[in-house]
This record gives sequence, C-alpha cells and structure tokens, in this order.
Amino acid sequence: MTDRELVAEAFEARKMAYTPYSGYMVGAALLTSDGKVYRGCNIENAAYSPTNCAERTAFFKAISEGERKFEAIAVIGAHKDAKPDEFGYFYPCGVCRQVMMEFCNPDKFRVITAKSESDFKVQKLKDLLPDGFGPSDLNY
Ligand code: THU
Repeated sequence: MTDRELVAEAFEARKMAYTPYSGYMVGAALLTSDGKVYRGCNIENAAYSPTNCAERTAFFKAISEGERKFEAIAVIGAHKDAKPDEFGYFYPCGVCRQVMMEFCNPDKFRVITAKSESDFKVQKLKDLLPDGFGPSDLNY
C-alpha cells in the first residue's frame, strides 16, 4: 500500500463522517504492519463531548479486532461544503496524538496529513508529539 493509496482510503472514510453539529468531516485510514487498513470517521453527538474523532474511530476499530502493530495513518479533514481546492493540510488533535502514542513507536509511526490525494505531508509521530508520555514511562 502506497502513501497515496492510504490517503485515498482516508478520503473514502471521510464520506461516512457523521457531523450534524459542526459540519466538519474527517476521515482516517490506519495501516497495520501486515498491510490491513482500518477506516475511521468522526462521529458527533447531540451532547457534544461524546464525539469521537476519525483517528480514534480507526484505532479503536483496529484494536478491538486484535491489531497491535501499526505503520501509518492518513488523515483528511474539511468542512462538508469545502471544495477540493479549499482543503488545507489536516492535523490530528492532541487527544488523538496521545492515543497514537499508546500503540505506536513515535520514532517510526508515520502521520500523513493530506490536502488532496496527491498533495500530502509525511511526518513521524515524534514530530507531532515531541517528548510524548507513553506506556514505557510507567516502567519502574
Ligand atoms: N475531529 C476529528 O475527527 N479529528 C481531529 O483530530 C480533530 C477534530 C472532528 C471532531 C468534530 O467532529 C469535528 O472534527 C470538529 O471538531
């Protein structure tokens, strides 16, 4: 799976976003180490705070199916009415970065932030969450 293909998966995931309150639609595509892709979208709620981000939807789907090793995630987000040339690079929120930190090696895990299927940036989790707190910090 190429990065471009993973971005295309994120665009497909975005179509499922449930966003009656913000109208901001996000899609994520999470690639496992054995090449499987889990899609996620944001799922909003009338009570607002139960809203789940697209990235966490993808992670929780994968984790709940037994996956534990991940290579990369592609993310795309824009208002539902945004035209293709109005998309900016979309960056995961802090909570989602922390969830990535739980399951991924920050030196290796790649976060692909996309504007379009051909225009995207690739960064390591450590660049988006420097000096992050993770499972190894609890080792005594
Ligand atoms: N959202 C995500 O899905 N991922 C993020 O990383 C940031 C925000 C969603 C939550 C909410 O449904 C909408 O974007 C506006 O905040």
